[in-house]
Parts: sequence; structure tokens; C-alpha cells
Amino acid sequence: MNLETVAGGVLLYLERYVDEGAKNYSPFAARTEVAPQYRPRSNEPSFDLITVQAPHDRVSVFQADPPKSLVDYYVRADVVRFVVHPETWDSEGEYLDEVHALPRGPSIQVAPTASTRTVLALEPAGGVPPHFIKLHYPRRISRFNRRLRRKNIHNSVAVTRDLAQVRSDGFAYLPDSLGFVFGDTDTSWGFLVRERMPRPWLRGRSLIPGFALYAGDFKHPDDPPLLVQLIERLGAEPASFVIDNIMIPLVQSWAKVARERGILLESHAQNVLLEIAPDFRPCRVVHRDFDVWIDSEVRRRNGLDAPFLGVTIGSDSGHSIEQHYSLVYDRFLGHEFFDYLLALLQRSYGVDVEAVRERVMAAFHRAFPEADRFFPKRTMFYFSNEPQPGNDFTLVDMEKVPEWR
Ligand SMILES: Nc1ncnc2c1ncn2[C@@H]1O[C@H](COP(=O)(O)OP(=O)(O)OP(=O)(O)O)[C@@H](O)[C@H]1O
Ligand SMILES: [Mg+2]
Repeated sequence: MNLETVAGGVLLYLERYVDEGAKNYSPFAARTEVAPQYRPRSNEPSFDLITVQAPHDRVSVFQADPPKSLVDYYVRADVVRFVVHPETWDSEGEYLDEVHALPRGPSIQVAPTASTRTVLALEPAGGVPPHFIKLHYPRRISRFNRRLRRKNIHNSVAVTRDLAQVRSDGFAYLPDSLGFVFGDTDTSWGFLVRERMPRPWLRGRSLIPGFALYAGDFKHPDDPPLLVQLIERLGAEPASFVIDNIMIPLVQSWAKVARERGILLESHAQNVLLEIAPDFRPCRVVHRDFDVWIDSEVRRRNGLDAPFLGVTIGSDSGHSIEQHYSLVYDRFLGHEFFDYLLALLQRSYGVDVEAVRERVMAAFHRAFPEADRFFPKRTMFYFSNEPQPGNDFTLVDMEKVPEWR
């Protein structure tokens, strides 16, 4: 991928093909049970999502301040446009018989993003803002079965609503501003609509997914990584460029959201995007994917309600507060993002690895002064390598000193 074309709306290409060498952060990272034609790497430019016309009384709708035109596209006067992934449609599962029996609506042409189950609507009808659709996809992709149930949909929209309260110049996010759930039980499922434009919106910016900064381009293997192209184009000092524009802003916004709202954003390389201006200067780190764990005790202390379902760390997860903070910061931000950026800096520019870590650690402790009360002392926790039934997970003590705090 040539940097000069990034501004030309190539986000989808970056999502699909610029992830060579990025999926080795765990033994499960590259696994998928999804049929080849629906994987991001497929050569199919698009596929069709199935829609049915669902009665209003069978669908719950969740909203986080979506534009009216987006609501009107999915919520019709007489029915709801309910969207199903074709591979889910062809399977068996709860509510599917009822969904199959509903009248079909027009299909929606989409292409997959890096997460596979979140797709980009390619030609939304006139006036409908560009958006992604995150789907119920009961197949294992990397470690987890990608069901999207009532709880996941409710929480993603509730967290989106909550993030509107975060006031910081450096903080931006892709809102999961609409959610749809079919049926009335805990195992009900549905889809989310995620806007393509970050909130707050700034004109003329482009987005590069975190992993596409350092990964290889599957179709153009000789192109240098975009991060290297950015550094060269701007004539920047490599280590400071990454520390000041990516790592420290991400640490600051992650810590702010955790400390103020009790929301533990899972800011790994697929869940954050770097926003750049037309002159290629980095502007903000943009967050996505709000199906996350919550520290309800922090919210209680800060006088906030907790309008979420079953995602309180400790009581709902069976894992300690320390284990969650370590998993999310040490492993998702640290290992699944920063380690890759640092490895590229070392490979390409021979930077002093310890000096980079020290600057980020200092920024972390400035941003999270009481971190010792939340994090385990001299170790990190990560998923066990033993597969667990369903989406259960076990966190194990790595007996390794944290490298980014
Ligand atoms: N570099 C990467 N780091 C982490 N995950 C990646 C990366 N590249 C692709 N992925 C894929 O992205 C998904 C990450 O899981 P995660 O739960 O964050 O996303 P999701 O909830 O499925 O979708 P979304 O991020 O669109 O909300 C996995 O399917 C994983 O295989
Ligand atoms: Mg994600």
C-alpha cells in the first residue's frame, strides 16, 4: 500500500489485505471457522447480507444518538429491516426458524473488515450515512465464538452513549449507535450499526487501522509498512513519532476512560485506528468495539450508574480486578499493539527499545497515578492456551514482568 493513496478512501483495503504478519500474538490469532468467501482475505469484492422484514414487536432497538436517516433506513414504518449474515442464515440456531419464515427484504451489499464479522455496507442508499454492520456470527474467529447476543448489543450501545461524556481533544470513537435484537430471551441475537465517521467528527481525515501501520501488504509484499512511509514522508524522528503520536495518546485516553468511566477499552491493534490529516500528520487515535468489561466499582465511586448487562469485572467474570486490568492494558495494548510497533522501529531504525518502553511507562504512571491499586504488582495475566468450552476463558499468571507499565 502506497501512503499517498491512503487519503483516497482505502480503509477497506487496509482492513482486508494489510495484515500480513500481524496475527501471531496468540496461538489462536489466525484461526477461523468462517467459510473462505466471507473471510477478509477472500478475493470476492463483496457479498450480500440477507434482510427480513421483522415485526416491530419481535425486535428491540437500542440507540446512541444515531442520525435520523440511519434510523429510518433500518426502522421502517411497518417493519424493521433485520439483517443476517448469509452463513448464519444457512445454519441452525435459536430464532432462525422464525426469522426464515419472515418476508425477505432487499439484500445489502457488504465487504468484510479485519474482524470478519463486522462488515462495511458498500453502497448505502442515498442519504444514509456510511456505516459498518456488526453481525451475529456463531463461528469461532480467533479465540471466541462470535455470537452477538442481547447482552453484547445492549452493552455496545450503552458504552457508546457513555463515551459521549468523555471530554478530551485526543479522544474519538466509531459509535455503535444502533442495535437490533430479535426475540425476547437472553439468547436473542441481532446486529449493531457502527458509523464510519468518528465522533467528534473532523473534516478531511483518513483512518488507518492500528495493525495496518506495521503489517505487510498481502498483495504488494514489497511495499514498506505504512508507519515507515509516514515517518519518511514527514521526515520524523522514528521513536518520538510513534511514542508521541500513537503510544502516549492511546495510553492517556485508555487511562482516562478506565479511571473516569470504569470502561476497560480493549485497545488492541484491530480496535484502534490512527486518524491522519491530508498532510499525513497524525491527529487522533480512534477507538472502536465497545463490547467490553466494566469496572462498576469505579463507576459507583464516581457517582455514575451502570446501565450494562452482566459485564462487571470480578462479580460477573469470575476473574479478579487485577487480572482484567492486566489483560487489557499489558496484553491488548502492550503485547497486541505496542510490541508490534516497537519491533518495527527496532527492525527498521535500530531504536533503543528500553528507552521507548521507559517513556511510555512514565506516561502511563502520569496518566494513571493510582495504578498500583488496580494492577498486579510484578506480573501480567493472559488467556490460558487450553481451549475452553463456549466462550469461557481462564486467565493465567504469566510470571513475567510487565513491559509497558
Ligand atoms: N492485528 C490484529 N489484532 C487483533 N485482532 C485482529 C487483528 N487482525 C485481525 N484481527 C481480528 O479481529 C478480531 C478481534 O476481536 P474483537 O473481539 O476485538 O473484534 P470483534 O468484536 O469481532 O469486531 P469489532 O472490532 O469490529 O467490533 C478477531 O476476529 C481477530 O481475528
Ligand atoms: Mg475488535
